[in-house]
Amino acid sequence: MLTPIIMAGGTGSRLWPLSRQLHPKQFLSLADDKLSMLQATIARLADLDAQPLQLICNEEHRFLAAEQLRQLGMDDSTILLEPVGRNTAPAIALAALQAVNKGEDPTLLILAADHLIQDTEAFHDSIAKALPLAEAGKLVTFGIVPTQPETGYGYVERGDALDGGGFTVRQFVEKPDLDTAKSYLEQGNYFWNSGMFMFKASCYLEELARHRPDIFEACKQAFANGSQDMNFVRIDGEAFANCPDDSIDYAVMEKTDHAVMVPLDAGWSDIGSWSALWDVSEKDDSGNMLKGDVLNHDSRNNYAVAESRLVALVGVEDLIVVETKDAVLVAHRDQVQEVKKIVEQLKDAD
Ligand code: GDD
Ligand code: MG
Repeated sequence: MLTPIIMAGGTGSRLWPLSRQLHPKQFLSLADDKLSMLQATIARLADLDAQPLQLICNEEHRFLAAEQLRQLGMDDSTILLEPVGRNTAPAIALAALQAVNKGEDPTLLILAADHLIQDTEAFHDSIAKALPLAEAGKLVTFGIVPTQPETGYGYVERGDALDGGGFTVRQFVEKPDLDTAKSYLEQGNYFWNSGMFMFKASCYLEELARHRPDIFEACKQAFANGSQDMNFVRIDGEAFANCPDDSIDYAVMEKTDHAVMVPLDAGWSDIGSWSALWDVSEKDDSGNMLKGDVLNHDSRNNYAVAESRLVALVGVEDLIVVETKDAVLVAHRDQVQEVKKIVEQLKDAD
């Protein structure tokens, strides 16, 4: 039994002003005309024998999440609601606790709600390779062949080949500095961690309890003190507020001896910033991706979206221009990681 767990609690602040606190990027249609990123993540699971689905997100987004699941006919999915964000190690622990609550121990397929995967068949192929490894007690990460020394990702050093297409993991390093990332790229035996995982619920909980008993205990308490109404599982606010904040990558994957890696070659990308979105978009002959009411003269390699007004580009290059009703972003394509600084300034001004 494969149970998909979709993590949808991120804020997407680098995709401001389209991504907002009340409507973060995973609920937006960014790379697809019809489906939101979350819905595309779920649609990608069709034909896999994977259910029942569990979604874990912030309480604030419960109606948005429920409505988007309803649109896909997935009304019977479980939605776990976090009163505050404590990052992915606790989020996955809560989902694993919910999964074992009924006395079962399903294999969990942990997915981020904001990834783009272009080749669904290749994705399913990697899932099939991962399944026997996860069922045998391993913590599987899906590895991507790196193309640049990206510092925002985790890196997996490949060890020995396993039967069926996976590898042992010699080392897992989350978000290395630039020099380290460059040396990994040169060595050639490192993969990016895609941020998707597969393991038995009990294996994750055991590893978390071993390496971060503080997180494990806080999650156990917060889950036990929580409540359920219809499909919503509410996590207790007081207990969860005491939970340390950490990602699965630092808390478990860097430390565990049970990690293995299955390569994934499926046109994967993490739509983490405007330039990442420009990268994967279909562009015109001048390298522009223009959406909405945008006019252009003699401009190259821009990403421009107009939501409510006419936008015109004249003689500019490498810009991100995002126009919405109440905010306009103009940023250089090389500086898009800094957009989150504007969101921080806005929060400070509140
Ligand atoms: N429910 C819940 N609660 N979801 C969360 C939370 C939380 O507190 N924090 C993050 N998420 C969700 C995000 O919405 C996203 O879908 C996913 O978990 C990963 O979180 P990110 O914050 O986007 O992580 P990252 O991009 O810095 O790093 C991870 O992904 C990289 C690949 O995209 C790591 O796993 C890296 O190792 C990996 O390379
Ligand atoms: Mg991310």
